[in-house]
Amino acid sequence: MDTGARGDTEAERLADDLVRSARIRSTAVAEAFRTVPRHLFLPGVPLAEAYADEAVATQFVDGVATSSASQPSMVAIMLEQLGLRRGQRVLEIGAGTGWNAALMSRIVGPEGVVISLDIDEELVSRAERNLASAGVDGVTVLCADGALGHPDGAPYDRIVLTVGSWDVRPEWIEQLAPGGRILLPLTVRGSQLAIAFDAPGDGLLHSASVRSCAFIRLRGAGAGPEVTIDLGLPGWSVQAAEEVEVDRDAVRSALSEPGRSWPVVPDPGLGEADVWDGVGLWLALGDPAVFRLLATGEAAGSPVGTSLFVGRHRDRVTVALGGPDGFAALVTDDAGSGRPGDHAPVAVRAFGSGGPELAAELMRRIDGWTDAGRPHASDLAVLAAPRGTELPGGGAMVEKEHVRLSVRTRG
Ligand SMILES: C[S@@+](CC[C@H](N)C(=O)[O-])C[C@H]1O[C@@H](n2cnc3c(N)ncnc32)[C@H](O)[C@@H]1O
Repeated sequence: MDTGARGDTEAERLADDLVRSARIRSTAVAEAFRTVPRHLFLPGVPLAEAYADEAVATQFVDGVATSSASQPSMVAIMLEQLGLRRGQRVLEIGAGTGWNAALMSRIVGPEGVVISLDIDEELVSRAERNLASAGVDGVTVLCADGALGHPDGAPYDRIVLTVGSWDVRPEWIEQLAPGGRILLPLTVRGSQLAIAFDAPGDGLLHSASVRSCAFIRLRGAGAGPEVTIDLGLPGWSVQAAEEVEVDRDAVRSALSEPGRSWPVVPDPGLGEADVWDGVGLWLALGDPAVFRLLATGEAAGSPVGTSLFVGRHRDRVTVALGGPDGFAALVTDDAGSGRPGDHAPVAVRAFGSGGPELAAELMRRIDGWTDAGRPHASDLAVLAAPRGTELPGGGAMVEKEHVRLSVRTRG
């Protein structure tokens, strides 16, 4: 079946939608979306699926997606963050289907260079085939662990990771041209943030923009520490910042009781994005003892599980403040009408003997977020420096293996 002409129309429709929703803001990115057909990078995937605004998983290992064509709106947001110009040299880490590399090649033009790495030989071959079928010849795809970058092609005006990283590796910073920009999905206190860092030459990286995102994580030498702690209760786990030790037994024993909840007054009216990237991120930046509580399967359907704030597929997740004798979690109020579409009233549920005190503290911090104007990921400014370097105070300090970050809300 020849889907070529329909694919072109679909690519144009997708570009128009992304322009309308302001995910695409520049002519160069719009033009790339219009002229690089996504379906040619997803052979065998129905046209409607290839042009829906969804990520499409293209490889699984043990039921877990290890590669995907990223969600078009996220690709657009990141291309705008990257600020590519004609003639630039770009290194991409995470070739996947090759679609993003093709879009970038279109933007930098024939006088530019796009090198794209993937750690998986099979994916490299597929990306090469996809690029050939789309008639894109300006991309070099190589099989390598992107943790080390690609020194042979350095320096790069832009380095972009389309795979989540826990750290900012020194290899990437060394391979960046003076005045260059590196964009990466970086784990910061349990949230993944797409941060575009500029390297103006003062030894620091300065964020030019921050957005929330959710990417598959790096494999190989740059795979970060595992931050999910199985609580040993079926379906229950905790995701914590690396800086703190969550007392697994204390959380488990506190969870064995149903807990007690109080409504947050006045109701801050939270949606899913607020819990992930707004108040959740704010709470985690304010205190590394804040963790994410996750319930899957039967646990998600239990009375406590269903009260957790955010539903993801059939799973539930929320933020919680931990202490030695319990924890307090952001939940939906039992007293809500439960009618579909109704905004669930927000409550705080206390578990364990120390829970009520932590619940009061959690409420104070939620008020603090409201008073600060309900900041989200895009309101953050981040500085990164090699570990041990002094950074200006006033922000949350997040320590990684190679860098330390100072994260604050933009004034
Ligand atoms: C979300 S996909 C990238 C999507 C891709 N840019 C596209 O347009 O289809 C993430 C990719 O990162 C790759 N990856 C994971 N760890 C890597 C590493 N250490 N070095 C290079 N690639 C890696 C995975 O194999 C996967 O293909």
